[in-house]
Amino acid sequence: MFENLSLFPETASRIASEVDALTFFLAAVSLFFVVLIAGCLVILSLRFRRTRAQQSEQIEGSLALEALWTVIPLIIVLCSFGWGAKLYYEMRTPPKEGMQFYVTGKQWMWKVQHPTGQREINSLHVPVGETILLTMTSEDVIHDFFIPAFRVKADTVPGMYTSMWFEATKKGTYHLFCAEYCGTSHSEMIGEVVVMDPADYQEWLNGQPAGKNPIESGKILFENLRCDTCHAAGSGQRGPDLAGRFGLPARLSDGQTVLFDEDYVRESILEPNKKLSAGFQPLMPTYQGQVSEDQLLHLIAYIKSMTDSEADSE
Ligand code: CUA
Repeated sequence: MFENLSLFPETASRIASEVDALTFFLAAVSLFFVVLIAGCLVILSLRFRRTRAQQSEQIEGSLALEALWTVIPLIIVLCSFGWGAKLYYEMRTPPKEGMQFYVTGKQWMWKVQHPTGQREINSLHVPVGETILLTMTSEDVIHDFFIPAFRVKADTVPGMYTSMWFEATKKGTYHLFCAEYCGTSHSEMIGEVVVMDPADYQEWLNGQPAGKNPIESGKILFENLRCDTCHAAGSGQRGPDLAGRFGLPARLSDGQTVLFDEDYVRESILEPNKKLSAGFQPLMPTYQGQVSEDQLLHLIAYIKSMTDSEADSE
């Protein structure tokens, strides 16, 4: 619908047409009432204008009318809410399986790393028909990753991770914008998303300098920073074993429970004693200033991948 009208961006992702349908529904409802009310206003003011001295019939109260104009708007509003909530939930709940990309915003560029390690700046190449998961952060100020053709948009915030997902349904090149004013060159913080056949994507990947994938980089870093001396099973257990912990609740020394997720790992690397794991001493030094945003993402990718729990630690 409306593809040929350049007022609307292309619809090139799985949820795009659903978002459009809701938008058109809301626009249609608003238009209907604008026309109805404005129309009545014009017609009635012409019909009952003073010079013609025509009197309208006075209505002294009508339960049927009151009920009608309460119930009808209520139904419309509840429908829009239900529809919007369902769609929002769908957009904010990433599928379990998918290709994990990492995005870092920085004044004034987008840095992207592919699941296999390739990097690019201000462009994102993805295969068509695959679930693409993005874990995003910023190195400086708040930016906003926006791909109009996919109807997806999310802030990237320094000091925390946000996520986003999409499935491109149509090959082509689409706009990528920063949608949050972030300084002088905000308007130049743009790029493109290139959706390709899976085979072409593979070929494109092969043509890029590969380097290590985020999990491998994370593993090397984990060893270089000597994280493994405390955080491995059977090492005297100065720190908790991290294998198989990701995505599960973690018990803290103050009795609270937090979710062992990206943000928790990040915080524990930078401020280790803020949320101390239950049963451990505050021995870990901070790694603030020693690891970059990219390296933090790699450590997280590696810790996420540690599934073979050997020891039962808690
Ligand atoms: Cu980055 Cu605007």
